[in-house]
Order: sequence, then C-alpha cells, then structure tokens
Amino acid sequence: MIGLSAECQPSSVSAARRLLAEVSRVVVLTGAGVSEESGVPTFRGPGGLWRQFRPEDLATPEAFGRDPRLVWEWYNWRREKIAAVEPNPAHRALAELEARLKAGATAPVRPLTLVTQNVDDLHERAGSRAVLHLHGEIWRLRCTGCGREDYDRRVPLDPLPPVCACGSLLRPAVVWFGEALAPDTWDAAVGAAQACELVLVVGTSALVYPAASLPAIALQAGARLIEVNRDPTPLTPRADVSLQGKAGDLLPQLL
Ligand code: OAD
Repeated sequence: MIGLSAECQPSSVSAARRLLAEVSRVVVLTGAGVSEESGVPTFRGPGGLWRQFRPEDLATPEAFGRDPRLVWEWYNWRREKIAAVEPNPAHRALAELEARLKAGATAPVRPLTLVTQNVDDLHERAGSRAVLHLHGEIWRLRCTGCGREDYDRRVPLDPLPPVCACGSLLRPAVVWFGEALAPDTWDAAVGAAQACELVLVVGTSALVYPAASLPAIALQAGARLIEVNRDPTPLTPRADVSLQGKAGDLLPQLL
C-alpha cells in the first residue's frame, strides 16, 4: 500500500492518478463523507447524526410504526438541509471522471458506476449519471399500502405524515435498519464491482454491510483499490493507494 502519512500525499496522489489512467472500468463507492463539505452531516464522526439521535427511534420500520410523525419530522429536517446545500468539488470531480471515462470508452460497456450509500441527490446535481443509491433516496416516497413510489421534492412536506391517494401512509423510500437493500440495485452494484478494474472508495467508514463488502468483492475479482478518507478505516490496509484528507481537496487532484 502507498500513502497514509502526510508527507507521502503528493506521491500517493500521483500513484492514484497513474492507477486511474490505466483503467477503463471503475466503480466508485461513496458514503456520507463525500457530502460533508457541502454541509450534510455524516453519521459516525464528530457531529454525526448517530451521535445526536438513536437510529432505533428514527430509522427502523418499528420506529415508523410507533410514531410516523416523529420519523417524518426527522426526515423533513434532513430534506430541508439537503435542499439548502450544493454539490462540492468532490461530487463534481466524480461527475467529471465519469464524463472523461465515457468520452474515452471504446467498448459498449458502462465505464463508471457510482454506488452511493447517501440518500441525498448531490451526485446527480453535480452531473453524475450512472448512480446506484444502495440505501434509497430521500426525495422518493413509498406507499406503505399500495407500494407506489414517486419523487416528491416539496420542502417542507406538510401535513405530516403524508398520505397516499389510496389512503395509506407514505414513508421515505430509504433503507432502514433491519431492512434489505433493493435486490435490483444491489445486484447491479455487485455486477459492476465484479467487472471493474478499479474501485475508488470515498468518505465511508466502511462499517455498514452489505455496502462495505463491495470493495472486497471487487478486490477478489482482481480490481485495484484507491481509498479517499479523512480518517483510516477497516479498508485502509487493503488499499493500493490510500489518500488521507478531505475528498473535496483530494478528488479534484486525481483528474
Ligand atoms: P459514516 O458517518 O459512518 O462515515 C463517514 C466517513 O467519511 C468517515 O470514515 C469519515 O472519516 C469520512 N469523512 C468525513 N468527512 C470527510 C471528508 N470531508 N472527506 C473525506 N472523508 C470524510 O458514513 P457512511 O459510511 O456513509 O445507513 O455510513 C454508512 C451508512 O450508515 C449510511 O448510509 C447510513 C448509516 O447508518 C443507513 O441509514 C441505512
């Protein structure tokens, strides 16, 4: 592995640039850290959401069953925060990487798949096109009765909790603790990880499964691994190049 200490950063950045220049199929896995510099709170770090709130009160089917209004108030607050912020240089660099790989693609395969654990839409707003939201999307609502899903970007949502035309409660179309990921989304992410030559992991603590298993799936299939994170993670020892710092500073340097 190359990298880690501050004085190695410039050579690590060049090593990462070299790796990126050698490949044509990339999977990017992002977590809350990529949106941190936009002003969206992460989950586990200082000021993280799970330092202030208990997931079992707000992010489980049982919590929604007990008090749908409370759960919706929390999601409404998060929707307000996300609506008020803008993509940062990290989101924009990833969108540019997708565009560059597409422009240089010779085979009719998707050159970059961006797999995110984030429920915000900052990757799309920065211009990324091939985005898989493993943990759902905060702007989508799903009916707990008829199952219908639609985007609803109203901020704030009022009245709470929102109700479907069929009369049942609507919930955020996100994955809560104890729930399975959408099988199509997960299968697409695994397929991309198995087929890629390089996996770039950005701003995730790599603690939440199954998302955290994607880099290992890619490594097992022979891919290289670049990690960009403010702090070391369980993945760091497995990285070919580990860049420690802010994604908004480092990712633009990779292009
Ligand atoms: P975490 O909050 O667990 O981790 C954020 C990671 O980003 C940490 O490793 C930080 O060191 C790093 N980080 C913070 N700011 C950064 C910056 N500016 N640049 C680079 N790195 C930075 O967030 P996730 O890994 O996304 O799931 O959490 C995974 C899942 O746990 C979430 O999707 C959510 C949560 O419970 C569900 O709600 C299902």
